[in-house]
Amino acid sequence: MSHPASKAPTRAGRPAPADLDSADPALRVGALRMELARLNYAYYVEDDPEVPDSEYDRLFSDLQAIEAAHPDLVTPDSPTQRVGGEALTAFATVTHTVPMLSLNNAFDDEEVAAFDRRCAEGLAKLAAGAPIDEAAAPPDPDAVAPAEGRDAIAYACELKFDGLAMSLRYENGQFVRGATRGDGATGEDVTDNIRTIRTIPLQLKAVKGVPMPAVLEVRGEVLMYKRDFDRLNERQRAADEKTFANPRNAAAGSLRQLDSKITAKRPLSFFAYGIGALEGVSMPATHDALMDWYQALGLPVCKERAVVQGAEGLLAFYRDIGVRRDALPYDIDGVVYKVNDAAQRAALGFVSRAPRFALAHKFPAQEAMTLLLGIDVQVGRTGAITPVARLEPVSVSGVTVTNATLHNEDEITRKDILIGDTVIVRRAGDVIPEVVGAVQARRPADARAFVMPTACPVCGSAIERLPDEAVARCTGGLFCPAQRKQALWHFAQRRALDIDGLGDKIIDQLVEQQLVRTPADLFKLGFGTLAALDRFADKSAQNLLDSLEKARHTTLPRFIFALGIRQVGESTAKALAQHFGNMDAIIAADLDALLAVRDIGPIVAESILTFFAQPHNVEVIEQLRASGVEWAEGEGLAQSQVSLPLSGKTVVLTGTLPTLSRDDAKARLEAAGAKVAGSVSSKTSFVVAGSDAGSKLAKAESLGVEVIDEAAMLARLAELGA
Ligand code: IVH
Repeated sequence: MSHPASKAPTRAGRPAPADLDSADPALRVGALRMELARLNYAYYVEDDPEVPDSEYDRLFSDLQAIEAAHPDLVTPDSPTQRVGGEALTAFATVTHTVPMLSLNNAFDDEEVAAFDRRCAEGLAKLAAGAPIDEAAAPPDPDAVAPAEGRDAIAYACELKFDGLAMSLRYENGQFVRGATRGDGATGEDVTDNIRTIRTIPLQLKAVKGVPMPAVLEVRGEVLMYKRDFDRLNERQRAADEKTFANPRNAAAGSLRQLDSKITAKRPLSFFAYGIGALEGVSMPATHDALMDWYQALGLPVCKERAVVQGAEGLLAFYRDIGVRRDALPYDIDGVVYKVNDAAQRAALGFVSRAPRFALAHKFPAQEAMTLLLGIDVQVGRTGAITPVARLEPVSVSGVTVTNATLHNEDEITRKDILIGDTVIVRRAGDVIPEVVGAVQARRPADARAFVMPTACPVCGSAIERLPDEAVARCTGGLFCPAQRKQALWHFAQRRALDIDGLGDKIIDQLVEQQLVRTPADLFKLGFGTLAALDRFADKSAQNLLDSLEKARHTTLPRFIFALGIRQVGESTAKALAQHFGNMDAIIAADLDALLAVRDIGPIVAESILTFFAQPHNVEVIEQLRASGVEWAEGEGLAQSQVSLPLSGKTVVLTGTLPTLSRDDAKARLEAAGAKVAGSVSSKTSFVVAGSDAGSKLAKAESLGVEVIDEAAMLARLAELGA
């Protein structure tokens, strides 16, 4: 955990804001302590942090700095004077026979190099027979050989898990007690809760050649995997229960449950990384060997570990994990380096609250706090409108962030974010920065709610949000510049007008250089314009012109599909073409006329109406016709003759489907033209199988008939535009 200070057992008051910035150090120290106590309460007791760790750390180091400059202001109850938190009173107290310490932190390469040098100095002094004394004068630079001139120290490197430190006591291989770190000397007895964590063995495995220790205290971290965290929050939301800010708080909240039945429902995990008491067996010679032994005992040990040599080895490990950090299935906030050799570790020993032989090398914080100045909307390539936070610039993991996504309207409501709020911004790896929440306690009186605009900020077309969708969209379609690239790509794709040679890169250039606004403009491009494009040879320019010429002669279904009307896939385009026979009839069709097309329901009909209600879309169609795009037109066919995507197919349903009822699934398949039969034969096109599928599934398998699940069926229907 990053909060280095106390768990305030009671809710603390709020300091006067002016005192936090006061020029009087005594006033400031008091205000900082009060504020830190309050934040601690929210963090530890309510498991609901009010501010990101980085903000807490900033206040904490402010306090440390003032105390360093004014030692007379240091009091024994200052958060800077404590090791960890106080034990919570609800659980029984456990005294750690071997204290649970914390780690010194490093934030840059130089601090890591200094750690390596300090270890080398310590070991060198020891070899020379001198005691290691922290209070001694600064080391004589000549006393320790530079890194090149001495043997590199071997370090065990591991991840710094972002969870809760835990001590698991095993007696003769039996799990007997689980205790939190507490203040390092005493913690809380959470044995019953620990028993619910499935990856923690209740009985250790026998290891060949090593007797079972009489006492073994395994130190490690309880944490929650990111996917388990997401699922838990989904469940909490569905049950109208409080959601957790991050996996670590979810893990803490779950472990602190007094009712272990609740903990049992929370998906906690554990990784072992250290040792407390050990009796009856001698200590393995290296940390690496200890971890191997743990693994053999059946304890969960993280596989992301390595033994490296010297500072360079440490930094290489840090960088390697740094690039993979976001891909790991759990949160980490850094890496940990430990002198591998047990004798060397013992020799280096401890200083106050942390060992000399270990170091936490922290990654830059991924969250920061700033002001939400306003909310703009952005139009994505598919017309999706995304609310974007305009922020007071803030540095998050080394990058200045001024904008962050708010995803959609519902998210803003769910997270209760108002314009003017102090918000927490998160930036993880390559992911777009997002606003994760607002600091409710800092909400100003004039904070105001976001209102989704009714018109697209780029093209002015109506913004629409369909009843079942989270996302609002610009209805501008082909006319909206923000959607142009996507629309052009859709228009040119093989299944549409099939314009060979019009790839993404060319579309980007054409749109960015304002050479093309709508698909109709493509047909106005001349050789000179194309040949002048970046990385475009004369030959490719001519090829593209040839493709465009070919594409002019198309079919009505392809043309309708190419328009990129939402909800209108290839098969709906085909149905429309067959039903109405010509473009003008489709443009003129009203709701009833559209609903008369066999596979068109209200949602698709609505989407078609909206598209043609935008005059720009009709204009583009006119321009395309004017530039020579043509297709065969005729009279509409009778509705019964309309061919549906699954016409002629026979489908069998079996077992219980995860989301659809049998009737719904049947209706969906029939709407797409399929015949739904009760038994499987060699004529069956495919079988949709759910759980507990019996003889029909077996028969399908024996006949070699294709079997798919509900998800595949829905995907297939969606793909067919049904
Ligand atoms: S070793 C004597 N190893 O970091 C050294 N700690 O500030 C004891 N942590 O409370 C800690 N991953 O919760 C160690 N691989 C790791 C760790 C780790 C996470 C946490 C632990 C401890 C804090 C130290």
